[in-house]
Amino acid sequence: MTSASAPGKIILFGEHAVVYGRPALAVPVTQVHADVEVLDSSKNGIWINAPDVGLHAELKSLPSDHPLAAVINNFLFAFGVAPFPVLDIEISSTIPVASGLGSGAAVSVALIRALSSHLDYLMTNEQVNALAYEIEKIHHGTPSGIDNTVITYAKPVFFVKGQPIETFRVGKPFTIVIGNTGISAPTKEAVGDVHALWEADKARWEKVFDKIGEIAEKAKERIGNGEWELIGDLMIQNHALLQEMTVSSPELDRLVSAALKAGALGAKMSGGGRGGNMIALVRPETAEAVSRLLKEASAKNTIITSIHP
Ligand code: MEV
Repeated sequence: MTSASAPGKIILFGEHAVVYGRPALAVPVTQVHADVEVLDSSKNGIWINAPDVGLHAELKSLPSDHPLAAVINNFLFAFGVAPFPVLDIEISSTIPVASGLGSGAAVSVALIRALSSHLDYLMTNEQVNALAYEIEKIHHGTPSGIDNTVITYAKPVFFVKGQPIETFRVGKPFTIVIGNTGISAPTKEAVGDVHALWEADKARWEKVFDKIGEIAEKAKERIGNGEWELIGDLMIQNHALLQEMTVSSPELDRLVSAALKAGALGAKMSGGGRGGNMIALVRPETAEAVSRLLKEASAKNTIITSIHP
């Protein structure tokens, strides 16, 4: 038996604009994870058991654009594995689906790593990342690649689409409370709607993306200098631009306001938006209180996480 695990992720700054080439900052969240076990089987075929999503099926019975089937088929094809091995694959995840925490990318990365070690095909992070990116295209349509990258490398990432991987310096640790609206919202739709806005008025939205890119650059510098208290305002500015882009929602806005009222230094939605998660920057001593007040403001659950050098 071989197993592998991959963390969730949050985007600190720059979602959506990152699809248009602007920089974004993302960090792994290890409190939630996708876990995959691969076992040799006595049954014929490759059986996938993913009880969280109610799936128990043999690989060949799944459509080729099913993300799990695509991971396995792409892996077997990439390494020319023949004949097909006989396997049982168990998939579980504590990352809520369609919530902005990278559940799809985490399952892909854990599955690729579990297959690679079980079948003895050693892979570099770069190879894992490239394979996971192909699957993100099924999930998202036109992904920037930020989710698979931060999850593969499991490090803070300053991401620019198509550029070599760059991690960013964290001068001093800081604490983030993540609040889940409990509303699942596919990233593909939000990304598609932003694309339609951009098509209709490129000049306007390019300016908005530029502003978000500048915010991400400033945040990177401040986090690097250990001036994490100074990124709260940048989060608020970034959230306002995401609202303008129509990807926030009344529930996300309510949690952002509740966090600020509870003493957070900044807050914003995180990920694709329209539902899913928001994040709040807090002093460590106020983390529990902010988390409690988010729940009172109807957050389905919260996670307190710290970002370390
Ligand atoms: C999703 O986590 C982040 C988006 O910017 C989409 C992407 O970058 O692929 C909304």
